[in-house]
Amino acid sequence: MTVTSTPVAARVSRLGTETAFAVSAEAAVWQAQGHTVYPFHLGDMNLPTPENIVEAAFRAIRDGKTGYCPPAGVMPLREALAADISASHGIDYGPLNVALEPGGKPVIGKFILALMDPGDEVLYPSPGYPIYESQIEFHGGVALPYGYVEGEKSFALDFEALEAQVSPRTRLLIFNNLQNPTGAESSPAELERLADFVVRHDLFVLCDEAYWDIRYSGASRSLASMPGVETQSVILYTFSKKFAMTGWRLGAAVGPAPIIDVIAKLNVNDESCANHFVQYGALEGLTGDQTGPREIVRILKERRDACVGLLNQIPGVSCFTPEATFYLFPNVSELMARKGLATYDELRRAALEETGVSFCTRLHFGRALPGEKESYVRFAYSGISMPLIEEGLGRLKAWAAA
Ligand SMILES: Cc1ncc(COP(=O)(O)O)c(C=O)c1O
Repeated sequence: MTVTSTPVAARVSRLGTETAFAVSAEAAVWQAQGHTVYPFHLGDMNLPTPENIVEAAFRAIRDGKTGYCPPAGVMPLREALAADISASHGIDYGPLNVALEPGGKPVIGKFILALMDPGDEVLYPSPGYPIYESQIEFHGGVALPYGYVEGEKSFALDFEALEAQVSPRTRLLIFNNLQNPTGAESSPAELERLADFVVRHDLFVLCDEAYWDIRYSGASRSLASMPGVETQSVILYTFSKKFAMTGWRLGAAVGPAPIIDVIAKLNVNDESCANHFVQYGALEGLTGDQTGPREIVRILKERRDACVGLLNQIPGVSCFTPEATFYLFPNVSELMARKGLATYDELRRAALEETGVSFCTRLHFGRALPGEKESYVRFAYSGISMPLIEEGLGRLKAWAAA
């Protein structure tokens, strides 16, 4: 059947996407032509789900956990996750504060649908996970991006951008501590300042904590734990990263019960419930043997150290060492100048075609902000093994130096 024009709804023109998938597709075409590709573009993981989780899910299937379950998820997992997050956040959550979702990603759209009316303004990070911008605009909100500034040792929140944009029409703040793509993490002082901002402007907050447990030293801190913010926050939790379960699709919204009730009602309308037996695998993940998640973090740390070391040896590249996430966001302004490359796309294509190294650029993480002067790319090391890291970054170094 050939369709020449399809009368889709007007709102579809406001729907964004993850343009990083286009980078994957391009890398796959290049590989299919017989070239070696070094995949630093993937936010996915090439590590197996821990065996005890796999076994528990099989057991659940055999035990008949194959029908629908309650829209907010099965009670034992809601209880276990509430206990886990209460302990890590110092907030008293119970099962009624938890709605299980088919991934962390659906929490973004459901949070927006539950709390934003068309025309409301929403502050969100750019560079940041591109689904924020897409969902805000798709549902008729006004997207107000704020950025990060490069400091001595890490990126810091751009408070000037936050203060300059907030208005009486601003209703929501989306905040991703342990940030994709920059690896940025707020200091206690920064969190305090942000909490004051939230309370002063009476905002509701989505605390996207997808990378909470992917950390190599210290302890993760949450904006939701700050005085005055707890009752104003929904936490995005995901099983994807900590347990290498990206394809199982399980996450959760955790927050005040009245908001969680609305999100559960959206679940009824969208998918009825998250995948039933997967929830028993996740329960084993949370309450069972923790060797698997510890091993995942150990492997990721080894990769981080190798990547940071090698990237900083490349002429024209400078890269921080984030203590969390599996992303690096090196500054490549000098490299682009050295190689006479004017645009991100030219850099990405040249690197792929001349070295096989594939990565995303700043432009895959939301619209660029006025006045952005420096150029950055994102290296993900969650889907590439050590030998390929060493070989790929070695080739990139030789190309940069030539
Ligand atoms: C910042 C951030 N939030 C949410 C997600 C959603 O992950 P998932 O839907 O696999 O839980 C991701 C995935 O990469 C992410 O980077």
